[in-house]
Amino acid sequence: MARETWATRVGFILAAVGSAVGLGNLWRFPWMTAENGGSAFLVVYLAIVLLVGVPGLLAEFVIGRRTNRNPYGAFRALTDSRVWPLVGVFSVLTGVVLLSFYSVVGGWILRYTAASVTGAVGIGAVPYFADPGAFFGAVAVGPDAVVAHLVFLLLTGAVVLGGVRRGIEVGTTLMVPGVAVLLVALAVWAAGQPNAGAGYDFYLRFDPSVLAGDFLGVLGPAAGQALFTLSVGAGTMITYASYLGEDRSLPFDGATVALLNTAVGVLAGLVVFPLLFSQGIDPTAGPTAGGGPGAVFVSLAGAFSTLPAGELVAVAFFGVVSLAALSSSISMLELPVSFLVDEFGVSRPVAVGGLLVLVGVTGSATALDQSLFGVVAGPVVDTMLTLGLTAFLLFVGWVLGRDAVVEFERGAGEFARQLSTPWLLVVGVLLPVFLLFTLFTALGLPGV
Ligand code: PFF
Ligand code: NA
Repeated sequence: MARETWATRVGFILAAVGSAVGLGNLWRFPWMTAENGGSAFLVVYLAIVLLVGVPGLLAEFVIGRRTNRNPYGAFRALTDSRVWPLVGVFSVLTGVVLLSFYSVVGGWILRYTAASVTGAVGIGAVPYFADPGAFFGAVAVGPDAVVAHLVFLLLTGAVVLGGVRRGIEVGTTLMVPGVAVLLVALAVWAAGQPNAGAGYDFYLRFDPSVLAGDFLGVLGPAAGQALFTLSVGAGTMITYASYLGEDRSLPFDGATVALLNTAVGVLAGLVVFPLLFSQGIDPTAGPTAGGGPGAVFVSLAGAFSTLPAGELVAVAFFGVVSLAALSSSISMLELPVSFLVDEFGVSRPVAVGGLLVLVGVTGSATALDQSLFGVVAGPVVDTMLTLGLTAFLLFVGWVLGRDAVVEFERGAGEFARQLSTPWLLVVGVLLPVFLLFTLFTALGLPGV
């Protein structure tokens, strides 16, 4: 059977934006920003998105479109080496690990959405929503979290089962614009809430002293978040670009994806921070005082239960988060699915079914164990994405070389073509060094 391709260019862009825009923007970003000094983190993060994320995204696009194969198959097709395809295996594994915690958080969101619809957000503020101390106990881990995670996983599988065009492309074309429109409306609503100004202040007022104080400390988390938010380093973007048929401008598409993802990230902050401050919650205060990983859930749900029209807004907000999460999780699943379909010739339903069973088990483990969850969702994923991207970049720079430049330029406009050679140099030399450096600082290895 012929390998599928995207039906339209916009379809590919929306699928890639759908992968990028997700819990990373709406949940992880506000929380990481709060934990790492607010606006200072924002600046470092934006710089890394531009200087590392975008070139990295283009490296994945180049590998994917060059071969029309899943990450493992792509490395097999491009080299005779036995070592490089192992990077593809690592990619497939990264997709599974990502999905194993992402679908757990997706499950939380589904429960909050459901509770918003039934109005539990208003009546049962304590303990279901507003008691921050109970967050991990009540919602995040345990049997109910396992069930919710499985439901989210099934939804993800249902979309991926439909295939590239009828499943992923149709799904994301519906989801992504919905997310954008609702988020703008929510930001406008948040602006009118009491004390919103303090939220903007925390979020947007740049305080260079924080940077000077602990630049290295911010670097690791900011780099990890920049890769995570753009879906770079896992190979999901290799996979999506492998379904490109005709020649389009990869640099243009990559820049569009990065721009829209960043806009949604910044917009999410314009919703979350004013609302936290309107509730008198200091987002830096840590999990038990309303900050930390539970901030979006506990604190915002609390906010919704006390603010005018809050119940309706809660449905809109958690609905947005659900859609955004789903459009990302399908890219995580499509990565290993494409591997099984391309390399072993299994049918899509069998590949999807097998992976749902696998991630059903691994995800349940993270849903049951809070410390496992914390390690996987944080350092493990950051490290895997950083290592994966470093390998992709070295491959593009040193193995593909001029071929990568040709692929980069294929279908690109005049301006973008001039960037191809500088891009190759940055990708082959500067960025791998930078990424390994951030890894060492993040891991706290001696000497750095
Ligand atoms: N970019 C997604 C987000 O911001 O939520 C998460 C993600 C998707 C990370 C796909 C990595 C990936 F390969
Ligand atoms: Na993102």
